[in-house]
Amino acid sequence: MEAIYPKIISFLEKELCQDTSGHSLDHALRVYQNARMILNVEGGNERIILISALVHDVIDPKLFKQVKKQEEKLLLFLKESGCSQEELDSIQYIIKNISFKGGNSTKLTSLEAQIVQDADRLDAIGAIGIGRTFMYGGAKGIKMYDEQLSIMDFENEEAYRNHKGTVINHFYEKLFKLKDLMNTPAARKFADKRHQFMEKFIEQFLDEWNGES
Ligand code: ADP
Ligand code: NI
Repeated sequence: MEAIYPKIISFLEKELCQDTSGHSLDHALRVYQNARMILNVEGGNERIILISALVHDVIDPKLFKQVKKQEEKLLLFLKESGCSQEELDSIQYIIKNISFKGGNSTKLTSLEAQIVQDADRLDAIGAIGIGRTFMYGGAKGIKMYDEQLSIMDFENEEAYRNHKGTVINHFYEKLFKLKDLMNTPAARKFADKRHQFMEKFIEQFLDEWNGES
């Protein structure tokens, strides 16, 4: 393993240690693992993909109030760890553009960005995706379910970010859409099984909620 990866993991241990919303170090490590699986099939620049996969949440406005400061800290750290300016530009493009944004994100222009986005999205679905979504709900004080709150279709990123719905609605608002939004055939293959598992889970959840199971 290249020396930069353990260094990044130590950096992430500090940056993500406060998180209780499903975006802690274990998420970053799974995205790294997913990205490796996808790039083994699809190709792309391995170093750019794996570094971006690890650090992608360090500048997330959901997790950090001072995003600009986080970005400066991250870029300085990566530069001191041996990344070239060209690598930093590619990494910055990826981590600034892979977010879901309520379905309003633009098509990604590099294969590396497409792979990291797919890797992140795989960790948002399936059994782990379910677990993370309930963690997020708990951490942010979002209700588990409420029939009175309708499922939303977001016109822009701001509407998505400001909306406080329910954990169950989030499956319809985002998670069930991800399978068809995967960029690469390799990721789509992994997504199918995870998608089916979420469908079963929601069916059972609603049966129990309605006293039918
Ligand atoms: P992105 O950074 O791609 O926009 P999200 O904002 O959707 O990603 O957050 C990533 C994960 O956090 C989701 O996959 C989900 O598990 C959780 N999450 C985000 N928003 C909500 C929400 N409103 N309700 C429940 N979980 C959420
Ligand atoms: Ni992520």
